[in-house]
Amino acid sequence: MTSGFEDFGDAFFRASVNGLTPYQPGKPVEDVQRELGLARVIKLASNEGPFGPFPAALDALDRGARELNRYPDGGVYRLHEALAARHGVAFDEISVGAGADGCIDMLSQAILDPGDRIVCGWPSFPSYVIYARKQGAEATLVPLADHRYDLSALLDAIDERTKLVYICHPNNPTGTMNTADELDAYFEHVPDHVLTVVDQAYFEYIDRPDYPDAVERYFKTGRRVAVLRTFSKIYGLAGLRVGYAVAPRAVCAAMAKVRRPFDVTTPAQIAAIASIGDDQEIARRRAVNAEGLARLESVLAEHGLDPVPSVGNFLYVETGADANDLFGRLLQEGIIVRPLAGFGSPTAIRISVGTPEELDVFAAALGRVLARA
Ligand SMILES: Cc1ncc(COP(=O)(O)O)c(C=O)c1O
Repeated sequence: MTSGFEDFGDAFFRASVNGLTPYQPGKPVEDVQRELGLARVIKLASNEGPFGPFPAALDALDRGARELNRYPDGGVYRLHEALAARHGVAFDEISVGAGADGCIDMLSQAILDPGDRIVCGWPSFPSYVIYARKQGAEATLVPLADHRYDLSALLDAIDERTKLVYICHPNNPTGTMNTADELDAYFEHVPDHVLTVVDQAYFEYIDRPDYPDAVERYFKTGRRVAVLRTFSKIYGLAGLRVGYAVAPRAVCAAMAKVRRPFDVTTPAQIAAIASIGDDQEIARRRAVNAEGLARLESVLAEHGLDPVPSVGNFLYVETGADANDLFGRLLQEGIIVRPLAGFGSPTAIRISVGTPEELDVFAAALGRVLARA
């Protein structure tokens, strides 16, 4: 018996959806472990960060579990309030989403009509492009220069149909950033009909004087900018899906119109609120990441690989061949990394910084894999 829906041809679905490729999720760690008969599998594939939620978030989640028969606060009121206070912006200049990814989706839905354009660097974070195409909009992909966003080329690519420009900062997957001076120059020249989205998903990991806080430096000085942040990375809440935009009132108001009422769950809201303000734990994790990043870099260099210097919690490495090959061989050893075809780099992989102990296991596995090559 078939449902009858098999008779529907492509014409039944939106043309812009027919052209999309569904997101390919990695296999669950437990399945990989069972299928390959491995005692242990280490996931260094999704840049989440190796640490769990902050202690205060775990306590809040325990307390909140008994209330899960209730729908979440659809207005995400208390988290909005906490984030507005944290950043020193108005309540209605915050828009919380189901991850920063949810915010990219809301921005796309609120802003892009068929025929509109976005501009972003490439290789970069695929959601900018996928969510634009879902709307029937077009993406102008501007090649990176030396693995970094080329901001003058980005400016050159803007035309009268361009509504959104994304600056992935640092860029996922290359881990590179632009300096405050470079961004200042970009904002001096970007035309007024464009909203620039500065995606700072990895903000808390970065400790460099030339890396700007885009909320302070651009949003608060009146630039046409939406700044994205997330609780998925250093805060250890990727599984809950909560991130936010700091953006002009009109942009947040439009995002609110396309938001699904309860898409930020109660656990996500209470864990995020409890996490805000533990700057000591953020500093500790930042320092541990910096050590891990340096170690991962040297492990790769010792094996003849040449990662792109990164300011985030991950490294981008050219493998010189189809990256699925090294990916597959590491998988056999119980290490999951990210092959980057979907990001526009079919010969590169991305490796997230794990715990020091995970890095030891990775180093040994990489040695075995490359010795067999
Ligand atoms: C640059 C960038 N933006 C946004 C996201 C999405 O983060 P979230 O988990 O908050 O949806 C990611 C996640 O990997 C990312 O790398």
